[in-house]
This record gives sequence, structure tokens and C-alpha cells, in this order.
Amino acid sequence: MYNFNYHIPTKILFGQGKINELPAEIKAVASRILLVYGGGSIKRNGIYDALMPLLQEAGIEVVELSGVEPNPRVTTVIRGADLCREHKLEAVLAVGGGSTIDCSKVIAASALSEGAPWDLVTGKTPITTALPVFTILTAAATGSEMNNTAVISNMETNDKLGVKHDAMLPRASVLDPTYTYTTGHHQTAAGTADIISHTLENYFSKADDFTLLDGMAEAILRTCIQYGPTALKEPENYEARANLMWASSLAINGSVRWGKADAWSVHSMEHQLSAYYDITHGDGLAILTPAWMEHILSDATLDRFVRYGVNVWGIDPMLDKREIAERSILMTRDFFVRTLGIPGTLREVGIGEEHLQIMAEKASTPALQTSAYVPLFPEDVLAIYKRCL
Ligand code: NZQ
Ligand code: ZN
Repeated sequence: MYNFNYHIPTKILFGQGKINELPAEIKAVASRILLVYGGGSIKRNGIYDALMPLLQEAGIEVVELSGVEPNPRVTTVIRGADLCREHKLEAVLAVGGGSTIDCSKVIAASALSEGAPWDLVTGKTPITTALPVFTILTAAATGSEMNNTAVISNMETNDKLGVKHDAMLPRASVLDPTYTYTTGHHQTAAGTADIISHTLENYFSKADDFTLLDGMAEAILRTCIQYGPTALKEPENYEARANLMWASSLAINGSVRWGKADAWSVHSMEHQLSAYYDITHGDGLAILTPAWMEHILSDATLDRFVRYGVNVWGIDPMLDKREIAERSILMTRDFFVRTLGIPGTLREVGIGEEHLQIMAEKASTPALQTSAYVPLFPEDVLAIYKRCL
């Protein structure tokens, strides 16, 4: 196990009605805030109406930025940072899914930086500080509510890049499972696929001596396999929504990563798909994951797939190892496509062969070539993309 620092200062306010505790958290550091949200779901499902009187009672002045896109654009970050400077705002409150939260994080950093927002995302201008960020999560998926990462798109250059800094870690996040009741079939399925992928990115790691972390990862995976379908059938099943919501945070806040080397192979490949075709992140991951597994299965990786098949999918450990491994991949694909109803091929989400080569080159970062579980060079990524067509 490698050395690591454990540092997650985000206060989680988990459970029904916990929004009531948020104004006091904000008021401790800010009286004037930017409220950021997406295309309007929070107005349709009542979260906006519940929030505004609470902020008003606490004496918190609000400036609003609406219209954050799924796959948030740097142009929206610029608008938000301008509002923060113009109105001398002291904190940013994101109400939404990962896109709204990610956008808010980079707004918070850009508001206090001389650098252009895109330069903060690319790393050309380092992030050093940020306005305090608060979140109200409305979709279980990305874990952005409890990590230091934001993913921002620049559609002019077809780039979708992640940027990390502890200054962007939310100070407090409200996780009320009832707020995810309205997420709908597509977003619930895609969010579940995203949580699974975050867990797998760490589970398939170079070293295999992590009994504690592997057990935690397997529990998260089994939770998604159990409760994803329940949430699809019964959108207002509190236990299902609560389990998915907490799984979303734990899968990517470092809990199943610390001490491991990770390169995020499937995410690197998926971010190219959404950068070029603006598809739903979780759909891309679900399409790529089984193909990536088929590509990396070998004698060297066999035992890890056997562990995955037995402990996650309940496959009989007495079967031949190769059969267990192959069956685990089939069950993974079957879960995404048949159980969650996510498209199984790139063509079904409108992706053809036209950009595969350039996307493969961009996805195969130095990290993917050196620290991935199985190194992926451009020709490997291209082969995986082609398998998915
Ligand atoms: O915009 P609104 O109207 O709010 O609607 C959203 C949006 O259309 C809707 N939605 C969210 N909560 C809802 C709801 N609709 C009804 N009821 C609710 N309660 O869902 C749609 C998608 O929202 P979005 O925020 O885009 O989804 P998600 O949470 O999956 O976020 C995806 C983004 O996060 C990035 C992805 O790449 C993508 O850009 N990621 C961020 C990560 C991070 N910060 O650590 C890691 C992830 O791997 C990922 O890359
Ligand atoms: Zn993801």
C-alpha cells in the first residue's frame, strides 16, 4: 500500500429534510452567494421553492446563474465568475448533479484568480484558492459532492478535462435521497453506471494486496447491482435512493483509492466521446467498460477477474477460471444493457468511425501508458473503440 493523506473536510448533511441545516453552514462564511443550477429540474421538483425561503430567513443574499449544461461548458464558468466579481459574492452554492457542481467549483476558483477559467482547467494557471463551495446534490452519480475534482468541456477545441484542487472541495453537501426521486430512468441508469465505473477504475489496479479496499469496492458494486434496478422500478424507494447516493460519494472520494495507483482508463476514453459527441457520461462508460475488460483479460489479469466474478456477481468459484472471468464480463454487459437499459454500442448513441483515431490518441495519456492497470497505447484504445461500434 502506498503512502497517502486522508483529507475530506466536506461536511455531509445526509437524509430527508437536511436542507434545513445548510443555511447556518453557509452563513458561517458568507452572506452573499451565487446560486448555480442547471436546466430547471430544481424548479419543477420543488427543491428551489424549499431552498429560497431558508436562505432568505438566514439573511443570505442570492444572485442566480441558471442553465448549466450537462457536460458543463467553460463559457458558463466564465459567466459565473463574472457574476461573483461583479456582485462581490462570498460563496457558491451548487444545486444539481455533477455538471452543476463541477461548474460551480471552477467558478469558485476563477472568481479569485487572475487567470482565464480555461487556463485553470488546463493547468496553465495553477489554482491556489477558491470561494467556499456548498452543494445540494440531486443526482447520484459523479461523487463531485465530496471530492476535489471538476470536469469542464471546451466545445471549440473538443476538449473535456478534469482539474483537481482541495480549495474546490465542498465545505458542506446536502445529500437528501428524496431529491433524486425525479431523476428519471435515463439519468438513474447512467448515474448507476458511473458509480460502478468509478469503483472499477480503482478495483482493477496494478497491485493486488488490498483486502480492505477491495472488500469496500465490492460492497459498493453489489449495492449498485442491487439498488440500481430497484430505483428504476420504484423511483421513490428511499432505501434504494439512499444507498445509491452514499455509494456515489464513497466510490470517488478516495475511500477505495488511497494507497493504490490509478489511471482511470475507461474515464479517459469516455471523456473523448463526450468531448466530441456531447453524450451522457454514464452511457459512454457503460458501453466502453465491457469492451475494455475483454481487451485487458489475459493470464496476467485472470485472477483479478475471477475475484470480481465470484465476489461481485456471485459466480460459482469451482468453475474454470477462464470461464468465471468471461462470464463476469458478460454479466457486466448484460447488467448495463438489459437491466439498466443503457445502449450497448457507440452507434446507438450516434458515434461512428470518423473521430476514433484522434480520440484514441488524446485518450492515451502518459498516465494511461504508464500507470494504468494494463497500459493502453493509442492502438489499444482504438481497438477498444472499434469493439464498441
Ligand atoms: O440541468 P437540470 O435541469 O438540473 O437536469 C439534469 C440534467 O439534464 C438532470 N437532473 C439532475 N438531477 C435531477 C435531474 N432531473 C430531474 N430530477 C433531478 N433530481 O440530469 C441531467 C444530467 O445532469 P448532470 O449533472 O449532467 O449529470 P451527472 O451528475 O451525471 O454529471 C455528469 C458530469 O459530471 C462529470 C461528467 O463527465 C459530466 O460532465 N464527472 C464529474 C466527476 C467529478 N467531479 O469527480 C467525475 C465523473 O467521472 C464525471 O466525469
Ligand atoms: Zn464518472
